[in-house]
Amino acid sequence: MKYEDFVRLNYLPDGDLICEYYLETKENFKKAAGAVAAESSIGTWDPNLTTMKLGIEKLAAKVFEIKGNKIKIAYPLELFEIDNVSQIFSSVAGNVFGMSIIENLRLLDIEIPEEMLKSYKGPKFGISGVRSFLKIEDRPLIGTIVKPKLGLTPKEQSDVAYKTWIGGVDLVKDDENLTSMSFNRFEERVTRVLELKDRAEEETGEKKGYMPNITAPYKEMEKRANIVTDLGGKYIMIDILTLGWSSLQEISKNTKLAIHGHRAMHGAFTRNSKHGIRMIVIAKFARLMGVDQLHTGGVVGKMEGEKDEIIKINSALKSGIMKKTFPVASGGLYPGCVEKLIKIIGKDTVIQAGGGIHAHPMGSEKGAMAMRQAVEGAMEGYSLKEYAKEHEELKTAIDRWGVVE
Ligand code: 3PG
Ligand code: MG
Repeated sequence: MKYEDFVRLNYLPDGDLICEYYLETKENFKKAAGAVAAESSIGTWDPNLTTMKLGIEKLAAKVFEIKGNKIKIAYPLELFEIDNVSQIFSSVAGNVFGMSIIENLRLLDIEIPEEMLKSYKGPKFGISGVRSFLKIEDRPLIGTIVKPKLGLTPKEQSDVAYKTWIGGVDLVKDDENLTSMSFNRFEERVTRVLELKDRAEEETGEKKGYMPNITAPYKEMEKRANIVTDLGGKYIMIDILTLGWSSLQEISKNTKLAIHGHRAMHGAFTRNSKHGIRMIVIAKFARLMGVDQLHTGGVVGKMEGEKDEIIKINSALKSGIMKKTFPVASGGLYPGCVEKLIKIIGKDTVIQAGGGIHAHPMGSEKGAMAMRQAVEGAMEGYSLKEYAKEHEELKTAIDRWGVVE
């Protein structure tokens, strides 16, 4: 089949996996579109294959829609090992990005057919499960990332975690690059932090969560997940992209713990608006593979990310019958962001702040109090400035960082 033969504008998809791409080429557009369908399914650059057999053509992916630079390609499900996410990405997000016939190619979205969806279990807890073990029904969850990112000892780390729990955060997590370092070994850290979590729960009468980062080569990661289980933890945190789909699928099958998914490295391929993969594609598959909480963007914080894009990703995480993944807003957030953030993305979200708590002029505990006050004030319908009149910690945070209008 020639590249052009992979374009069938009269084709009506039926149970196929559908990928939408943005495409730019200096060559014939139809040929380039066909090249994407060919390379991601059964084709190659020279159509005169001596090895081609009758009947293989029906496996061809088909470009069935071209609208400006946007194309849609339908992939028959036989092309995929249906519960092997690595193989699916090797097909639809593999060689195609490097082909010389394309100038730019961006995988905008994926429609996953029912038959494929059925092969995945999705989150074990999701929004409702996490809310029920934390006993928080009606407000965003508040999380913190212990800072500095690296350098604290397990004792120092657990002291900081304890202070923020006492101050009012619900969840404490490790940073994406903290795993098991010479100055902060995994097991000692988790032991100490979980001990202080229990103490914080007793003292506050609230449920708290700790999300230790278990990211590591698979066998080591599984050991770390088991350590967390044995120590009575409820959560693990994983850097889902640097880890890779295979390990994410496997750890999700082999643990009973809730999974907090950090998306470190996503910007390498989600950020260029003409080339790469949109975050929504990553988010949809992370949910299928069992991620209970996923970083999707801070909207108003330090990380790049369009508001509309984040709203779309968050709603994709919550639609359909599978358990809903909790979207996590993180990166450069502080109490003054909270009112605007809740207005934009609603209360079914985890709001995380690292610097916005630990750089509070009165320290981490008061920083956590300021964050909790901001969330409670916003949920009660106060403006943050108004609420700050009666809440010193919030007022100090606002004096320091202001309010996002
Ligand atoms: C994250 O992993 O999301 C960041 O560590 C957030 O930290 P920050 O609130 O200090 O930007
Ligand atoms: Mg971080």
